[in-house]
Amino acid sequence: MRDLFADDEHALPRRENITAGAVLMRGVALGVEDELLAALAAVAQDAPFRHMTTPGGVMSVAMTNCGAGGWVSDRSGYRYDSTDPETGKPWPDMPQVFRRLAIEAAADGGYDTFVPDACLINRYLPGARLSLHQDRNERDMACPIVSVSLGLPASFQFGGPKRIDPIRKYLLRHGDVAVWGGPSRLCYHGISTLKAGDHPKIGPMRINLTFRRAL
Ligand code: SIN
Ligand code: FE2
Repeated sequence: MRDLFADDEHALPRRENITAGAVLMRGVALGVEDELLAALAAVAQDAPFRHMTTPGGVMSVAMTNCGAGGWVSDRSGYRYDSTDPETGKPWPDMPQVFRRLAIEAAADGGYDTFVPDACLINRYLPGARLSLHQDRNERDMACPIVSVSLGLPASFQFGGPKRIDPIRKYLLRHGDVAVWGGPSRLCYHGISTLKAGDHPKIGPMRINLTFRRAL
């Protein structure tokens, strides 16, 4: 029998290999969703979501961070910073429920020594997108990226280490976790324009947590 994650009519495999080193595990965050959402609200209270500017312009995705390092961007480029430039304070601590989920998901994905020190939190309203990019500002490329999706479904584009490599698309839904590292660590990825909708737990948006070893 096929291993299906069938909590609704749109059954998808519970676990799908994306490419060597990259795996998609569906529904694994559902067991702690209420704790995740409560912790997220507390983080966003201390470090509000904001639209950062990149050398290319203002991002459609709103972002905040928790953990020792936060991903920040301005007109001159990207970096990790221990201070939130908006508040002048350190980023909020990474909630235990975040850290534990990231460690467990990384281990399930084959990376059993991963401990995150940074969590970038992305908020997509309908119409927002994240163009194809590599995550390459982290110090230790031996550590994977762990990505947790909440709220509205999104189409995740995943390519190869070169921008021109072919792209495959994966539907990321509430509770899904993607892990990529090792040979896939520098693969290009992005999120297609978010479609309108209203998620019963999150409302009309998608939230993504990406855990990194950044500092
Ligand atoms: C990211 O690439 O940093 C986030 C991807 C996502 O929102 O799923
Ligand atoms: Fe990324």
